[in-house]
Amino acid sequence: MKLKIDDRIEEVLKSFKLPDPIGFGTTLAPIMITCDFKEGQWGVPSLLPYGPIQLNPTAKVFHYGQEIFEGMKAYRVSKKGPYLFRPLENFKRFNLSAKRMAMPYISEEIFMETIKILIDKVSPFIPDQSGDSLYIRPFMISTEDHLGIAPSKEFKFIVVASPSASYFQQAKPLSVFIEREYVRAVEGGTGQAKTGGNYASGLVSSIKAERLGYSQTLWLDAEKKEICEEMSGMNLFIVKNGNLVTPALTGTILEGITRSSLIRIARDHNIEVQERSLSLKELIQGIKDGQITEAFACGTAVILKSIASFGEEDGTVYKIQSKESEYNYQGKRVRGQIGAFLKEVLLNLQEGQLEDPYGWRVKVPSSVDTDHKIIKNYDQEASLNC
Ligand SMILES: Cc1ncc(COP(=O)(O)O)c(C=O)c1O
Repeated sequence: MKLKIDDRIEEVLKSFKLPDPIGFGTTLAPIMITCDFKEGQWGVPSLLPYGPIQLNPTAKVFHYGQEIFEGMKAYRVSKKGPYLFRPLENFKRFNLSAKRMAMPYISEEIFMETIKILIDKVSPFIPDQSGDSLYIRPFMISTEDHLGIAPSKEFKFIVVASPSASYFQQAKPLSVFIEREYVRAVEGGTGQAKTGGNYASGLVSSIKAERLGYSQTLWLDAEKKEICEEMSGMNLFIVKNGNLVTPALTGTILEGITRSSLIRIARDHNIEVQERSLSLKELIQGIKDGQITEAFACGTAVILKSIASFGEEDGTVYKIQSKESEYNYQGKRVRGQIGAFLKEVLLNLQEGQLEDPYGWRVKVPSSVDTDHKIIKNYDQEASLNC
């Protein structure tokens, strides 16, 4: 793959210092990738210092929201790695989102290689405590300078990265607001795509949830508002009578990579997983009668976070009476919280602390020396003088 490398890259990397504390998504790596789509094809990607990009005020993204993104992490715990976790799944989902939003397909080479170059370059700045990572945000925006409502003919692919600590700094479990007024996604809509509009339309509920003292929104189906779907950036699991239940993928839910990984790990430990419709009635009744003993949210950013309660706008709260379950671990029957167990296995797989029987962990090859001086293996097209 050809790559244009800005002359200032070495300098910005050398002068970069991690702040303390680093937070989640607030510290930005000093470099980024950009690649333009014009006249029906992708150009040569560039490696640039992180900074503002120039767009005309009539760029379509500002008016019609033709935009998609992904969220991934690179782990370097105990200085091992850096490892990506199932990055091909992000690549596939990115292109599914692109198709839904009438945006161009991006090749595996451009998507993967540019992300690996970025990770490799900022690898010394990836914090190395368990729970830390480099959060990676690939995204694509429509850039054509035209006010007509029609798919853009020009796009920009950008990758930025953020050295980050855990998403939720507090150990406190989540309290989840049951949203009965607004909806997130409809059948035939964009719920399955990772596109900005899904998140923008959910923000009004985040404000409401926060005002009422809740930490997250639970979205219900749009038609009857009776079926549990997911949270604004996380999928949902409950433990009912010792079995895991998670809403089935109906086309309105984002197909989480964490969700599918947890399902596989659970099944491999003889924990039954039911992917099915979960009604709000069943959720509330199960909490009241004690059959639901755990609930948790999962996603790349948060990994897995337990839920203490669900609640209504009028202040009614359904608090989960948390109980341990039995499951198989290393040939033995053990008791414990299923969520905590799954989180430990998943995190250890992601961070390289556990042998990976699935081939999910992908080591990012090193192609730079520690002074960020040389990029080997990449066919440098030209140096950019900006
Ligand atoms: C709406 C929504 N649901 C679920 C998830 C979890 O998906 P993943 O596990 O792939 O991060 C995310 C995060 O990407 C999300 O934005």
